[in-house]
Order: sequence, then C-alpha cells, then structure tokens
Amino acid sequence: MSRRILVTSALPYANGSIHLGHLVEYLQTDIWVRFQKSRGHEVYYVCADDAHGTAIMLKAEQMGITPEQLIEQVSQEHQRDFSGFHIEFDQYHSTHSEENRYFASLIYERNRDGGHIATRPVRQFFDPERQLFLADRFIKGQCPKCGSADQYGDSCESCGATYTPTDLKSPYSTISGATPVMRESLHYFFKLPDFRDMLEAWTRSGHLQTEVANKLSEWFQSGLAEWDISRDAPYFGFEIPQAPGKYFYVWLDAPIGYMASFQALCSRTPGLAFEEFWAPDSKTELYHFIGKDIVYFHALFWPAMLHGADFRLPNGVFAHGFLTVNGTKMSKSRGTFIKAGTYLEHLDPQYLRYYFAAKLVSGVEDLDLNLDDFVARVNADLVGKVVNIASRCAGFIQRHFNHRLVPVSHSLLTRCIDAGDSIAEHYEHRDFARALREIMALADLINQYIDEQKPWALAKVSPEDPRIAEICSLGLEAFRQLMTYLAPVLPRMAQQVQEFLNLKDLHWESRLQAMGAHTLRPFLPLLQRVDPEQVQAMVKASKEDLVTPPAKAPESVESLASIEPLQPLLDIDSFLKVDLRVARIVEADRVEGADRLLRLRLDIGGGEHRQVFAGIRAAYEQPEQLVGKLTVMVANLAPRKMKFGISEGMVLAAGPGGNELYLLAPDAGAKPGMRIR
Ligand code: 2FM
Ligand code: ZN
Repeated sequence: MSRRILVTSALPYANGSIHLGHLVEYLQTDIWVRFQKSRGHEVYYVCADDAHGTAIMLKAEQMGITPEQLIEQVSQEHQRDFSGFHIEFDQYHSTHSEENRYFASLIYERNRDGGHIATRPVRQFFDPERQLFLADRFIKGQCPKCGSADQYGDSCESCGATYTPTDLKSPYSTISGATPVMRESLHYFFKLPDFRDMLEAWTRSGHLQTEVANKLSEWFQSGLAEWDISRDAPYFGFEIPQAPGKYFYVWLDAPIGYMASFQALCSRTPGLAFEEFWAPDSKTELYHFIGKDIVYFHALFWPAMLHGADFRLPNGVFAHGFLTVNGTKMSKSRGTFIKAGTYLEHLDPQYLRYYFAAKLVSGVEDLDLNLDDFVARVNADLVGKVVNIASRCAGFIQRHFNHRLVPVSHSLLTRCIDAGDSIAEHYEHRDFARALREIMALADLINQYIDEQKPWALAKVSPEDPRIAEICSLGLEAFRQLMTYLAPVLPRMAQQVQEFLNLKDLHWESRLQAMGAHTLRPFLPLLQRVDPEQVQAMVKASKEDLVTPPAKAPESVESLASIEPLQPLLDIDSFLKVDLRVARIVEADRVEGADRLLRLRLDIGGGEHRQVFAGIRAAYEQPEQLVGKLTVMVANLAPRKMKFGISEGMVLAAGPGGNELYLLAPDAGAKPGMRIR
C-alpha cells in the first residue's frame, strides 16, 4: 500500500558553509527519501535555512550588509552545495518567510491561549555600548579559578573549571569590548513541564531510537524546566504577537520552519493539502532526521509545542552521530574541515554518498571518514565490483550481438531478485551499511560467475558463440538488480545505467520484470577510480581555505546557536596602525605545487618591492592579466615564511572564496605607495 510521507532534515544555519559533517545528515535523509520514492510511496522531502538569531544579525553587520542579503547569499550557496551532492529537496525554504511567521505566531498563540506561556523578569548581562543583551557565548573574561584571560562565560579552557558568566573576573562583551552590566527584562517562557505526561508516553512508544529514549528518561528524572523563548530587540527574527520589542528565540521558530517549507510546497502543488499532513488525526507519516546534539529540541520542545497547538506529532525522530575524519574531530589545520564546495572541486559526490552510506547504521554512533579507507573502499566496491560487471559484459553484447540481450533464467538471478526484500528492510530501518554489504555480496557472486564462465575465452574461439550472449545477458540482468538497489545511494550513476539498459525507470518493483530479449544503448564509462592525489589536493585546499568555519553548536541547551567568534570592535587608533597602501602588481605567477596560490610582486612606491603569496588562484586563472593593475595591500604585516618563499604582506580581496574572490582596486588616479586614510 502506498504511504504518504513527509521527511525533513535539520535546517542549517544561514551563517556558514555546508561541510562534510553536515552532509552525513543530508545524505542519510536523501538516500532514505529516494529509497521510499523508489518503492512507490508518496514522499515529500523539505528543508530550509535557519535564518534567525543574533549570530546572523551580527555577521551581516560585520559584512556591511543586511541580514536579508546575508541569508539570501547563504541560501544560494547552500542550495548549490546540496544539489552538487545530488541531494534533492522537494522544497527548500527559509525560516525568514511569511509562512513561518504565520505558523510561529499561530503555534505560540494557541499555546498561550491554552495557558502554556509564562512571563517573568530575567537578569542578564547587557552590553551598554551596543545596547543589547548578551548571550553567555558573547561574554569573556578572566577565569575565576586560575586567572587565565579570555575565557568564555561557562568554562575555562585552561584549567577546566566550570562556572557562570557572573563569576568571571573583568568580564567583557566580545561584541564591543565593553564591560557588561546587569540588567533586567521581561521574558516569555514555554511551560514544558505542562506536557510531561504526554511526552513521557510519546517518547516511550517507539518514535525514538532506544538509546535516545533512554537518554530522555534521564532528563525526565532530573525534571523538565520552562523554556525561555523570547529575546529582546535588537534581534533578527519575528516579533512575538502582542509583545512589542520581544522576539521569538531562533530555536522557537526553527522547527516550525519544517511546516513553513511544506506549506510553501503545498502552495505550488495542486492537490497537496497541508492539513492532511499536520492535522492531529493525520494518516500520513512525519519523520525528522537530526544530529544527536539537537535531540532535546526535537524530542521534547517540538512535540510539546505541536501538541499544545493541536497539531500532529512526528512518527519518528532519527538522530545520527557526528562525523570524525581520520579518527578525530574535523580540523582546519589538518585540512580535514572540508567544505562541501571544496570537496566538489576535487571529487565526484557519488564517492562520498557511497562511503557514508556504507558506514551509516540506525543508531547514533559517530561515523569516521578515513581518507585512505575511502579511496580503497570506493575503488574496490564501486569500481572493482559493481561497474566491473557492466564493463565486462557490455562489450561482448555490443560488439558481437548487436546490442541485444537474450532471455535467461538462472538461480543467481533469482537470488539477486529475492535479496530485494531484505535489502529494502535494511534501508527502511536506516541500516544502509547492512544493505550495502548485502549488495556487495551479490556483486561478488556475479563476478565470480563471470570469472568461472570466462566469456573472453569462448570469444577467442568463436566471438558469436551464443553461450557468450547468455553469460553476458545474465551478468547484465543481475547488474540491473544491483543498480536498482544502489539507485538511492548513486542516483547519477543509476540514471546513466537506466539509459544504457534502455529502461523506463529503475524503481524497486520494476526489477521483477526481466529485460529478456531487449536492445541496449551504447555503454559509456560509469565511474572513474578515486585518485588519491585528488584527495590530497582536497585536504591541502581545505588547509588553505580562507573562510573561518562557524563554530559547532555547543551541547548545552541554553547556548545552542552556531556562531563565528567575533573580534571586539577596533578603536580608530588600532585601525590606523594597519599600513594599507596602494600597490602595483608587477609580476603575477602560479606557484608550482600550490593549487590555490599566486606569487605577486608588488611595487609599493619609493622603489620598494614586496613579494606576496595570495590564495586567489582559482579566481585569477590567468595571472598575467593582473600585471599592471593597482590593488591594496597590508604593508606592515610581519613577514611569513611559507614553503615557497617569504610572504611580505597581504593583498585585500573580497568574496566568499574559491573562484569568487575579487581583488580590491583603488579609483583611477591612485599611485603606488599612497596610504589609505
Ligand atoms: O543545529 C542547527 O544547526 C540548527 N540550525 C538546526 C535547526 S533544526 C530545526 F529545528 F529547525
Ligand atoms: Zn581556569
């Protein structure tokens, strides 16, 4: 029976790039959705950018643009990255949308009218210069225990002590540098404890993974607290109805973004009715894929908010673990903090889709991307086993049998077809690792069969021997079964195979109809081997990536927003210490062994020349075109010894990075050596 399913992945923050850590989740969800679609179910996969909050407001300000401009730029980048990895949403929306404003207000008002909202004053640090309340992560100071400077308000990185921001000595605002003051303001709270019974019952009735349900039992035992859902202006978000100057905390309207995105899809899809998916008695299914760090929001706050507002609850919340690379946390200096865009500049997305799938299980275990294993596994399994079957058989059928298969029946084929049921079970339960193990075991059997039958030996004697057609037809019939099973993981390759096999689709059930006497289209190469040098180049490029990664959301509930650390504001004297000068580019060359760098020789006036290594090669493929141009450099940066020579300064460029970087240039009339003032 066909099911109607709505699926979501967590909404990425609109202030940073997608990296491989994020992709675990989007790939896991995309594979599951594609599998369900292949089974003939009606499935909708929606997502959006998580666009609100202080971090986004401050970042936009820092960049000199409006938050709306920032979130638009980031949304474009996110969508480009997702589609680069063949992640196919039915709708990609934003929490900063009219649909989301509507549902956030509605859910709030229904909860308020049901008595589930409380208000009370809260005392909090306030930045008197910037006139805003400071979340704990925007306050630093001296550790009260060991005296180390520049420690965050919750714990000391130096001695490990934990405390509250008010314990810090000489606290300062990381936004302005000012000394914060205590100030009181009225806050709005969602009364989570009102929902305790409902939540205990819901979390214990099979909607969560066992380990997650166990964790929740602990939380129930330690008691549920009311949740602070308001933030004072200035804040980038939605104003709370009838509460001027108070805004919904970003985490209040984030999950509501799932609804907003689905509403946007309904608005442009005739016949798709929002209520059928969200009404309390809905017969449809709703699943959220999330990281294990945001379980609290999705398994407690979210169901409670929904229940309090008379909406349905999710059928499942599926948490996954974190990504490690080469066994440890992703690290920028090791080049293992790899952005989606950087990966795509070097490698085929299908390699990663396969590798992650081969390691994804239904629990919350962390997943390790070991780069050597990645190369070995993709080459051995995908190229060495799967593609190998097709390339061994296609040539014979093409050359000697006029592209025509012959009908075959064989226990090996029956076995491949029968395996579909248990493979489907594993996909259904998100045990992709097991599904792929089973598929690869079938690939081994098919290769073994071809090895034994040796069509090449028969062809030496008589290339048109009908036994060759039979062996290769069986090989390709079985290959078609494998590709049906692999299509959720490798949609691009499945598409190519579908064309080669001349089939209408590769849906799960369609495999039951054998191809029989059937004409194929020409066989084209399906997938190249992974070149380890490309992997090394990606790691190297990640080391050189100019953009600072956004910090990962910390674990504690109260400070879960992702944020790039901000520098205190500069006073004018500090700024004037930077010697910015107009410079003429007199030489510009590529650097052997550094894909990202150009070596520039700059004339900075008074007969002085400087050598600068700049990470702008992707943006200036023809460096000679830069010769003669004026730009702006930092002339009093301490020289840096690099592998390729000494870099004696820095040129200024703007843009997100990669091939989108633009050297700054002064207006006509400027001369080398002129100082910026
Ligand atoms: O942790 C995060 O990255 C959040 N932006 C996830 C939000 S998921 C949902 F609730 F919107
Ligand atoms: Zn300390």
